[in-house]
Amino acid sequence: MKSFKIMLSASLVAIASVGAAQADKLTLYCSAQEDWCQLMANNFQDATGIKVAMTRKSSGETFAQIKAESSNPKGDVWWGGTGDPHLQAAEEGLTASYVSPMRDQLHPWAISQAESADNKTIGIYSGALGYGYNTDLLAANNLPAPSSWADLTKPEYKGHVQMANPNSSGTAYTTLATMMQLFGEDGGFDFMKGLHSNINQYTKSGSAPIKAAGRGETTIGIVFMHDAVKQAVKGFPVKVVAPAEGTGYEIGSMSIIDGARNMKEAKAFYDWALSADAQNLALEVNAFQVPSNTGAKTSASAPDMSTIKLIDYDFKTYGSSATRKRLLKKWDDEVSVLAQ
Ligand code: G6P
Repeated sequence: MKSFKIMLSASLVAIASVGAAQADKLTLYCSAQEDWCQLMANNFQDATGIKVAMTRKSSGETFAQIKAESSNPKGDVWWGGTGDPHLQAAEEGLTASYVSPMRDQLHPWAISQAESADNKTIGIYSGALGYGYNTDLLAANNLPAPSSWADLTKPEYKGHVQMANPNSSGTAYTTLATMMQLFGEDGGFDFMKGLHSNINQYTKSGSAPIKAAGRGETTIGIVFMHDAVKQAVKGFPVKVVAPAEGTGYEIGSMSIIDGARNMKEAKAFYDWALSADAQNLALEVNAFQVPSNTGAKTSASAPDMSTIKLIDYDFKTYGSSATRKRLLKKWDDEVSVLAQ
C-alpha cells in the first residue's frame, strides 16, 4: 500500500512536471515581415524549448487587436512594427513596463524610445521611409524617374502609385506623419489628397506595395527603403528612392502586453530579442533595418542612413494617442473619401 502511494505521488510529480513543460509557451504578435517573424519564433523556440504561437499582422491592426483584448489579454509580446502605435499602446496602458538587463547593449535611439514611454516599449530596429519603382514598368509607360515626394502627385503618375492604408499599416501612418512634419498640417493634407488621385490601391500591409511593384503590378510603391532594397536584392527590377525633400523614419519597437499570461516567457523573449545574435538573424531573411544592438551586424546592402536626409521625427507627438487618432480620422474623412 505504502509503495503504491509512493508510486502514485511519484507519477503525480511526473504529470505535474509534464504539465509545467507544456506551460512553457509564448503568444507572439509580430508586425515585421512574415519571414522574419517566423525565423524569430523558430529560433527562440529552438533555443529555449518555449513553444511559440506567432501571428503576423500590421502595426495598426495589432494595436487594435491588443486594445480589443485588453480586458482578457491573449498575446504576450508584440515584436516589430513601427514605434508610433507601440507608443500609443504604452500611453493607453495596454503594455507593461520592463527594464531588460540587455539595455546597455543598445543604441541611444532605442533606449530613448523606452524612456519616453515609462519603459513600456523599446527600439529593436530603425529604417527610413521612401519609395521604390519598377524600372521596366516606368520605361514601358514612358514615365520620367521620380525623385521627390512632390513628383508622386504629378498627373502623369495617375494610377501608378500604391501605398498601404494608414489605419492598418504603420508604414503608411509613418508616411502620413512624415508629410505633416515636412509640409505642415495643411500642406501635408494637400499632399495626401494629391497623392490620393494617383493611388491605384491602399493595401493592408505596409510592404505589400513594393512586393506588387516587384511583380509588375504597380509602378511605384511607398514603403520603408529597406523593404524596397529587399525586392531589388531578390532580383526584381526595383530602384530605391530617398525623396529629395527629406524623409521620416521608424523606430521599430517591441512591447510586453499588459496582463500577459506568460510573463516569464515574455521577458525571456524580450531579453533574447535584444541580443546581437538574435538581431543578426535579420540578415538571413534580407531584413535590412538598422539593428538596435550596437554589436549586431548591418548588411552592406542596407540603406545608408547617414546619406539620407532625415527629418527629426517627433515620436512623442505622432506616437501620442490624441494625435494618431486625430490624424487617422482626418485622413478617413478628408482624403480616403475623395474621388480618384
Ligand atoms: C515592414 C518593415 C518594417 C515595418 C513594418 C510595419 O515589415 O520591414 O520595418 O516595421 O513593415 O508593417 P506595417 O504593415 O504595419 O506597415
